[in-house]
Amino acid sequence: YNTSVNHYLRDHIRTVQDWPAPGVAFRDITPLLQDAKVFRVLIDAFVHRYMDPALRPDVVAGLDARGFIIGSVIAYELGVGFVPIRKRGKLPFTTVEETYELEYGSATVEVHVDAVKAGDRVLLIDDLIATGGTMMAGKKLLEKLGAVVMEGAAIVDLPELGGSAKLHSSGLPLFTLIDFE
Ligand code: PRP
Ligand code: ADE
Repeated sequence: YNTSVNHYLRDHIRTVQDWPAPGVAFRDITPLLQDAKVFRVLIDAFVHRYMDPALRPDVVAGLDARGFIIGSVIAYELGVGFVPIRKRGKLPFTTVEETYELEYGSATVEVHVDAVKAGDRVLLIDDLIATGGTMMAGKKLLEKLGAVVMEGAAIVDLPELGGSAKLHSSGLPLFTLIDFE
């Protein structure tokens, strides 16, 4: 991605060592959000890409919880609807669900059965890709409803954890702004 924008955004990600567990370098995106100018540069990086008629989605889906923060704003700017993919037990209407493995244990995400229509082209958004499990589960959920996940997008990729490679080899194109080793 554009080098000067990349460096500008990278400088506004805070690394917190040993959180939430020893050995983890947590990439905290809150400094990107709290500065109005940086927040606009961040959102515009996505909006400019997906305004292109060839890449414009029918709907944006965001992953709980940090995918909601940027996903809904991107959807609003593109003039399309927003769908939340939530952790289990939060959605009131009929859902489909997908369980996936975490480093320790497992997690389940859900989406409302009428959140997308068969054939909808969906852009799937999260803040960060680590093992790729969360984004893969979101893709499978949307596909259960007959939607086409045209691309996954995130602010940060942690390529050493192998998630982006795994998602890519599953046939999901990815767009990320910043890599951290
Ligand atoms: C983080 C992050 C992604 C996911 C990435 O969310 O926001 O959703 O982990 O990891 P993965 O690629 O290995 O699946 P977290 O589970 O911490 O939830 P939160 O957004 O509610 O903080
Ligand atoms: N989710 C999984 N790994 C993470 C990390 N290192 N920083 C922020 N969010 C994460």
